[in-house]
This record gives sequence, C-alpha cells and structure tokens, in this order.
Amino acid sequence: MTTQDYRRISTQFKHQIDTLVAIGVSLSAENSLSRLLDMIVFHARKLTRADGGTLYLLHDGRLRFTLIQNATLGIRLGGEGDRRIDLEPVELKKDNVCAYAAILGKTVTIEDVYESKEFDFSGPRKYDAITGYRSRSMLVVPMKNHLGAVTGVLQLVNAMEQGTREVTPFDGESVALVEAMASMAAVAIEKTKLLEDTRALFNSVIEVLGVAMDAKSHYTGNHIQKVAKLNIEIARAIHDDTEVFPDIRFTDNELEEIRLAGWLHDIGKVTTPEWVMDKDTKLKVVLDRIHLIEDRFTRAAEELKKTDGAAAERLLADLQFIREKNRPVEDMRDDDIRRLREIASRCLPVAGREERLLTDDELRNLVIRRGSLTEEEIDKVKEHAVWTARMLEKLSFPDHLKNVALYAVQHHEKLNGQGYPQGVGADRIPFPSRILAIADLYEALSARDRPYKERMPYEQTIGILRKQAANGDIDGKILEFLVERDIFRKFEEKYRNGNNGYAVRG
Ligand SMILES: [Fe+2]
Ligand SMILES: [Fe+2]
Repeated sequence: MTTQDYRRISTQFKHQIDTLVAIGVSLSAENSLSRLLDMIVFHARKLTRADGGTLYLLHDGRLRFTLIQNATLGIRLGGEGDRRIDLEPVELKKDNVCAYAAILGKTVTIEDVYESKEFDFSGPRKYDAITGYRSRSMLVVPMKNHLGAVTGVLQLVNAMEQGTREVTPFDGESVALVEAMASMAAVAIEKTKLLEDTRALFNSVIEVLGVAMDAKSHYTGNHIQKVAKLNIEIARAIHDDTEVFPDIRFTDNELEEIRLAGWLHDIGKVTTPEWVMDKDTKLKVVLDRIHLIEDRFTRAAEELKKTDGAAAERLLADLQFIREKNRPVEDMRDDDIRRLREIASRCLPVAGREERLLTDDELRNLVIRRGSLTEEEIDKVKEHAVWTARMLEKLSFPDHLKNVALYAVQHHEKLNGQGYPQGVGADRIPFPSRILAIADLYEALSARDRPYKERMPYEQTIGILRKQAANGDIDGKILEFLVERDIFRKFEEKYRNGNNGYAVRG
C-alpha cells in the first residue's frame, strides 16, 4: 500500500467516524420519536447512498412498517407529519428477509433480490410490477438495543453510484457503518419511547386529576377541563400572531408549561369542602338549614294558633320571607336585611320553652348581601390558590417545566396587586399567568353551571371582562386581542363540536 493509499484510507476512515459521531449525537438529542425515526432512515440512506429505506419496529411478535422512504418513487410514509402506513405487519417467518434478520439478529446483504433463492421476494416483485420500480441490491440490518435484543429492522434498497445513479451492491464498508448506526438508533428509539411513555403517563395523571376535581362539584361542571383547553388555545393564538404580539413567541417547552398550568390551576380545590363549593343557598352547610327553620317556625305557629291566630299568621309569613331570602342574589336590599334582623331578635315558645327564631349563625348567613358565601367561606374558597401552591411545590417538575407552578398559582393575581394569594403586581405577573387569569375568568363568568347563575350572554361576559381590564385586574391588551380575533366564540364552537379531541359536554 502506498503512502497515498494509506492517506486516502485514513481520511475516509476519519470521515466515517466523524459521520457516525455526528449521527450518534443527533440521534441522542432527538426527543420526538417520529423525528428520530425519520432521521435514522435518512442517515442510513445517506451513509450507503441507498435509494430507498424501510424501518420496521418489532411489536407483538411482528415487524410493523413504521417508515418508508424512496427517492425515485417520491415516497415518504410514516415519520414526522407524514401519512400513516396501512401495510400488514410482517410475520416472523424465516422466508422473509427482514424477519430472518430479526430472528437471527444477523445482517443480510443481497446483490439482486430477483436472483435470490434464499428468501421470498414475491411481495416486493408485486409492488415493483405496480410501480415500475426495480428492486435490486438490498441491505437488511437488525436493530439491537442495549441488552442485545432485536427491536426492529432497517432495510435499505438499491445502493447507487454517485453521479451515474447506477444501482450497485452494498459494500462491506457501508454494511459496517449501518450496523454501527443501527444499534445507536435502537438505543435512541428506546430512550425516546420511554420518554414519550413517561410524558404520556404524566399528562394523563394530570388530566385525570383535573377531571376528578371537576366531578367533585356539579356546579363548576367542566371548569378545569375548559379552562385548560381555552388557556392553551389563547397561548397558541398569541404565539401565531405577528401583528399585535410580534415579540411573543413560545417554545415547545413553554407551551407545555402553559398547558400543564391550565390543567393544574385549581388543583388546590381538592381541599375546599364540597358544601362551600356547591353552596347554592345561604343556609346550606352540608344540608340546607332552611328545613330546621321551617320545622321550628311551623311548630311555633301551631302553638300560637291556640292563643293568637294573627301572630301565627305573621310567623308563617316571616317563614315565607326567609325562604325567599335564602336564595342568593347579586345585591340584597337594606330593607330585607333590616327585616331579617328584626325576625332574629324575636323569641317564641317552642315545646314550652322560649327560643330564638333564628340563631346567630343562621342570621349571619341570611344577611349575606351578594351570593351565598360568608366572609369566612370566601376566604376558604380563596385558600385553594394557596393549596395549589403548596401541592405543586411538592411535585418535582423537570427543569424545562419549572414555571408550571408559578403560572398555575397566579391565576387569581391581578395586575393592580389586588389579587390573591400573594397580591403581587404587574411586574411580577408573567405573560402566561395573565393568559390563564383571563381564561379562568372567562370560563367562570360564562359558565351556566354556577349555584345561582344562568349562562351569561357573550356580550355581557366581555363587558365585565373589559371593566376588569379598565380596573387593572387583567391584561387589557390580551383581552382586546382575543375579542378582536373572536377567540372565545371560536373556542366555544370548537368545544361544543368536540373537535380536536375536546370532550363534548356531558
Ligand atoms: Fe381558582
Ligand atoms: Fe379556575
């Protein structure tokens, strides 16, 4: 061998090592399985100058067509964003060359498949007859994982001469290169699959939690699920926009953080007592105490009837009044509050004893001006944000999801610092938290299923949100963008139709 030959070979050798190292690095960096598979077939074809390549993965004892590429035929099936493959998986029988490679864990090279007596190539021949293609040289390499187990097969067809594009046999060099690459690929596939499985499990656990939380209260209906979906919808709309928010772009990881924050935002409600969440009358504490009052008043009226019919009548009228005032309203009249206090101040004989008509706690609940909750109960409801913080603190989010807890916890914060749990101001409320706050408010306002509310018309919901924006509670720029692009109504439409995997409201 001359020095020149030696130099040429060593340069070639170095080039191959560099190529393999580069492939190894890119394979191990890829976290999406479909992109990874694409990359494997692409590199394998490039290394061997093969016209076509097929990747099979072993699944349930059969080889499943996972990706097919052929340059001459212009075919790209499977893999990233391409069409799925509808071909019957290959049974593990030795007359099929790929099955043979998988069973024995051995590489097979064939100079001309039409001449081969060893394997059954009737399938490829039939296919060639339809497409006018001519399969000739073939290289079939089993892919083995770190344990040496075959997990798939890489099949390359028609190595081509550079320039002339004449079909040649696969040479020994490219066989060694593809074999080296195939095992790196197998390990990368396993790692990526494991990652995707873990991610899918994590996501389903979080969604199950959200659905379970929603099931806890029939009044809040699908609040968490709907907020989660609207939240990511808004984030995507802003991400895609180039006019109002040209500088706001989210990475895949940031979108993932936003999505998870939506699903987890009310997780702290697991600690909120159901009777507070579902308190639809003022006197409700597990049971509606109006029944106790009815019993007390009717018995007292019975006794009174014997001596003073008019007083008995008055008492029953008071009872009717209390029944009405037990229902929550937006703003109770001062007169009504006065009358309730007057009723509570009276005593009447019940079973021979003097008894107050209303207890202090009953009165305190009946005179709630707005809604059905006392101050303490409102505090209890607000506490869910603190619990969301405490619970999410305990979850060890990986570094690329480190902001999930922050966004989730801040959904009741206001830009003017009047929110909770921390009362931080605009400078400490990042963009994704602002989006979630709007998604949460929109859903809460527009939902049909609240203790004392009908579904609010769209215009009225937007009117209230605009007032909140003017008040400095929420981000007006985001709100106006959403109104202008009609994002809320488009979302409602999509949600109703159950498109894009959105559950139809049951
Ligand atoms: Fe909340
Ligand atoms: Fe919420």
